[in-house]
Amino acid sequence: MKALVYHGPGQKAWEDVADATIEEPTDVVVRVDTTTICGTDLHILHGDVAAVTDGRILGHEAVGTVTEVGGAVKGFRPGDRVLVPAITKCGRCDYCQRGMPSHCQTVGGIGWIFGHLIDGTQAELVRVPYADTSLYQVPADVSDEQAIFLADALPTGYEVGVLAGQVRPGDTVAVVGAGAVGLAAILTTGLWGASRVIAIDSNKFRLEKALEFGATDVFEAGQGTAGDVLALTDGLGVDVAIEAVGFPETLLTAASLVRPGGTIANIGVHGVPVEIPMQDMWIKNVRLTMGLVDTVSIPTLLKMVASGRIPAEKMGTHTFTFDQMTEAYGVFGNAAANAALKVIITPA
Ligand SMILES: NC(=O)c1ccc[n+]([C@@H]2O[C@H](COP(=O)([O-])OP(=O)(O)OC[C@H]3O[C@@H](n4cnc5c(N)ncnc54)[C@H](O)[C@@H]3O)[C@@H](O)[C@H]2O)c1
Ligand SMILES: [Zn+2]
Ligand SMILES: [Zn+2]
Repeated sequence: MKALVYHGPGQKAWEDVADATIEEPTDVVVRVDTTTICGTDLHILHGDVAAVTDGRILGHEAVGTVTEVGGAVKGFRPGDRVLVPAITKCGRCDYCQRGMPSHCQTVGGIGWIFGHLIDGTQAELVRVPYADTSLYQVPADVSDEQAIFLADALPTGYEVGVLAGQVRPGDTVAVVGAGAVGLAAILTTGLWGASRVIAIDSNKFRLEKALEFGATDVFEAGQGTAGDVLALTDGLGVDVAIEAVGFPETLLTAASLVRPGGTIANIGVHGVPVEIPMQDMWIKNVRLTMGLVDTVSIPTLLKMVASGRIPAEKMGTHTFTFDQMTEAYGVFGNAAANAALKVIITPA
């Protein structure tokens, strides 16, 4: 089979590798019908994720068709159309049982294993461990181009942003960073009845997208951001400030926007320490949340996509075939210059 193989920082190739096969009785093999690229794949290619080593197939998002099932698999059979989520879960360890499979201890000490600790989804075939507890059947009224964004981006914005931030009816919400994840938070914040959703980004194209995804107000990031947001929110700030970039300055922006008693929900992956102004924050009774996505909201999101409440397909801006994988990385890697959000990659 062909797959996108990582060969160390800056090096990758779409090349021939051995076919994915069943290794454990709880595995299935899935033929990948649609995959995509995540910002995390770019981090890996920059050499930021040491656990990913030479020879690893990248990718942790797929929609596909089951081709083979292990002897212990009860819930899936060949021909089933499935969503392969970013998080794999055994269903039985302490973390899985408390609904936190991001830290499933059985599959490798962390729930994110595809394109990280085992071979991933940017391939013609992928081996899926613990298939019964990890895969989701895709309803007939949800297309591949919709389902693919439920593997990672949509659950991340919803779980680590909207749910962790405890958005409630009438709340004002600010989202710093309107990439796929920030836009997913914007798209799902309305489900909880936010009265105002303010998007902040340094990129004009992303701010236009934010309005399409349900933002009520948008501001270009800059010196005046906090003042602009406070002016819109009775001078006190927003109830929930969601951070979806991953830089010290954007977390500090989120912290500067939250009102007393509010929540800062950090989604961004941070690579360096952040100096948080505790001397100003302690007296404001604010909460700061953070975490790796669990993807446990997928069944809810699938229903909302099927009913038309969440237009997940809006995330896809460019389409490529497998043999254009390198080109797809080129466009996604320069997303701002290419007016790109997420890419959709299919066999042909
Ligand atoms: N916690 C999790 O489980 C989890 C899962 C997936 C992704 N993430 C993280 O979420 C973050 C967002 O992911 P994404 O795929 O949307 O990334 P992205 O690169 O597509 O989007 C980031 C956005 O931030 C904007 N931006 C950059 N600098 C800015 C600044 N100074 N002020 C305001 N906006 C700025 C960019 O223009 C872009 O629109 C990343 O850090 C990613 O690693 C976290
Ligand atoms: Zn991802
Ligand atoms: Zn587990």
